[in-house]
Amino acid sequence: MEMAVIIFKIKLQACHNLGLIRSLLTTGVREFSGKGKILLMRNSTIIGTGFYVPPRVVTNDDLAKLMDTSDEWIRERSGIRERRYAEDGVGSVELGKNAAEKAIADAGLTNDDIDMIVFATLSPDYFFPGNGCILQSKMKFRTIPAIDVREQCSGFIYALSIADLYIKTGFCDHVLVIGAENHSTGLEFADRGRAVTVLFGDGAGAVVMAPTDKEDEGVLGCVLHAQGEHYDKLWCQAPMSYRSPRVSHEMIDKGEIYPKMDGRAVFSHAIPRFCEAMNEVLEKTGCAIGDVDLFIPHQANERITRMVAKKIGLPDEKVVSNIDRYGNTTAATIPICMVEAREDGRLKKGGLLLIASFGSGFTWASALIRWTM
Ligand code: UT7
Repeated sequence: MEMAVIIFKIKLQACHNLGLIRSLLTTGVREFSGKGKILLMRNSTIIGTGFYVPPRVVTNDDLAKLMDTSDEWIRERSGIRERRYAEDGVGSVELGKNAAEKAIADAGLTNDDIDMIVFATLSPDYFFPGNGCILQSKMKFRTIPAIDVREQCSGFIYALSIADLYIKTGFCDHVLVIGAENHSTGLEFADRGRAVTVLFGDGAGAVVMAPTDKEDEGVLGCVLHAQGEHYDKLWCQAPMSYRSPRVSHEMIDKGEIYPKMDGRAVFSHAIPRFCEAMNEVLEKTGCAIGDVDLFIPHQANERITRMVAKKIGLPDEKVVSNIDRYGNTTAATIPICMVEAREDGRLKKGGLLLIASFGSGFTWASALIRWTM
C-alpha cells in the first residue's frame, strides 16, 4: 500500500502529545504549528454506494408453514413482511461482492484504486481466513490489506470508523467498506427457533470512502461502544474453539448451533443505547437533532425504530425503514438503507445523515455524516 502524501495542520496541546505527533509524522503529517487542540485537516467521505439482496423472497406465510408462527405475530411484533434468502452456495462473500462491485462503479473507480477492504459480518464464509481475504481474491484486488469486523449489528459503523481513521491519518485514499450477511443457512426452521428465525434476512451493502479536505463534510464524527457482559443475550454458541470437537451431534441436538436471543432484554437495552449514542455523536460534533435531515437506524425491529425516533425527537419523514422487505440484515442494513434513500431522493448532497445501531455483544454505535454525493 502506498502511503498518501498529505498535509495536516496540527496545533500542539501539551508535551504528552509529542508521541502522537511523532506517530502522525510517520503517517504523512507534514505540518504543525501553535498551541491548542490537535486538528487533523482531512475528513473521509462516502463516494460510492451499492447493495445486493438475493432474489428469493420468503414471506411470513412461508415461514408459518415450517413453524408455529403467523404473519400477524411477525408483523405486529417486528414490522417484517418478508425477507430474502440466498440460494445454496451463495455466502456472505458472494453477496458482498455483488454490492462492492456496484459501489466501486458508483464511485467511478476500478478495483485497482482500492487501498483497503473492511468487511463487517457475523456470518463469514469460513472460521478463517476472513471474508475480506476471500473477497480480495474473488475481486482480484491488489495485495491490499483486508480487515474483518465482527461487531454484528454495529459492524457497519465500526467498519466505517476504521476506514475513516485510515483515511484521516493518510494510510489510505480509497477504502471499501462492506456489510454482508447470509443468515438463512444458520437459522432453525422449527418451533424451537421461531423467536429468532423470523427476524433475519440475507443481504449486502457496500460503500467506497475517500478523503475530502473540507472539514465540514463527510464523516463528522463516530462513537462506538461495547458491553460484553451481555454477550449471551444474543449469540450463537457453537461451533466454539474451546471445545473438542468444535461441533458435535450433541451440540446440534441441543440447538447450540443456532442463534439464541433474550428478545425482551435486547429490546430494553436497545432504545436507551441508541439514544445515548446518537446524542453523544451530536454533542461531539456540535450539532443538534434539529439539524439532522435523515436518520438511518439499524433495522432490528420497527417498534424500536419508532420508539427511538420519538424519544430523540425525529419526525417519521426523516426516518428510513426497510425492515418490512428485508428483515434484520445485521451488518448490511445501514448501507442498504443508504442506497435506497439515495434512490428515493431522501439522501441528498449536503444533507446531514445520522446513523446508529445496537445489537449483539452488546455493541452500539453512531455516526454523523454530511453527505457529499
Ligand atoms: O438486531 C439485533 C438486535 N435485536 C433486537 O433488537 C431485537 C429485540 N427484541 C425484539 O425485537 C422483540 O423482543 C421480539 C420481536 C424478538 C419479540 O417480541 P416480544 O414482544 O418481546 O415477544 P416475546 O419474546 O415477549 O414473546 C411473546 C410471546 C411468547 O409467548 P408466551 O410466553 O407469551 O406464551 C413467545 O413464545 O410470543 C411467542 N413467540 C412467538 N409467537 C409466534 C416468540 N416468537 C414467536 C413467533 N411466532 N415467531
